[in-house]
Amino acid sequence: MGRQDTAMTTMAGTKDFQHPRFAKLYLAVADRADRIGGAVHRGRLLSGLTGAVIEVGAGQGRNFAHYPDTVDSVVAVEPDDTLRGHAEHAAVRAPASITVVVGHADALPAYTGEFDAAVASLVLCTVPRLEHALAEISRVLRPGGVLRFYEHIRSGNPTYGRLQDLLEPVWSRVGGGCHPNRDTVTAIESAGFRIEELDRFPFKPVSYLPAFTHVIGRATKT
Ligand SMILES: C[S@@+](CC[C@H](N)C(=O)[O-])C[C@H]1O[C@@H](n2cnc3c(N)ncnc32)[C@H](O)[C@@H]1O
Repeated sequence: MGRQDTAMTTMAGTKDFQHPRFAKLYLAVADRADRIGGAVHRGRLLSGLTGAVIEVGAGQGRNFAHYPDTVDSVVAVEPDDTLRGHAEHAAVRAPASITVVVGHADALPAYTGEFDAAVASLVLCTVPRLEHALAEISRVLRPGGVLRFYEHIRSGNPTYGRLQDLLEPVWSRVGGGCHPNRDTVTAIESAGFRIEELDRFPFKPVSYLPAFTHVIGRATKT
């Protein structure tokens, strides 16, 4: 079964991931965020990356312009039809060889051990089953493969973390399923990855909201 066939079999499963109103909002939010620092973060996320790469939940393809020429190819998986349409256009303009495919992190359209690296960017906050998604990412990576991640995570301040817990139901409805309160770094470690690099910093992509703790990191499949 080729990737296209695999993609077709997972396409039926993407109807739960259609958030057209959020997609429209995110097109504008991500554009602004990238202008005030997000683009630099994306460059750091992908710097020095090599080999065959899978990007999970690529959105409208805001990372595509930042892939270095050391990358052989990128398979960009995106379930949302609106964002995937934009990603297809971004892939044409990108310097790297990028194929955009339909699919989701619960059943990635990829063979076991197929990739040298996986990229998760502002997506592990949103996947419905974080542990399952990380197990899938691990499955499609070769032994010693690398996970690069750029995520907003639960605040290290317990009071603020509890506020994020309270905010989560409403936030998730408005934010296309995003959970602001996930301890994503611990989840990555629990999924069998060794954290090699981790930078934690506050970032405020939306002017009317407080800064969120963000991380940029590199982890190896053990
Ligand atoms: C906040 S956007 C981030 C998009 C992009 N990665 C970026 O860096 O701008 C969250 C993305 O996760 C995608 N997504 C949601 N659930 C997913 C899943 N189960 N598997 C893969 N992607 C998913 C959404 O469709 C959306 O594109």
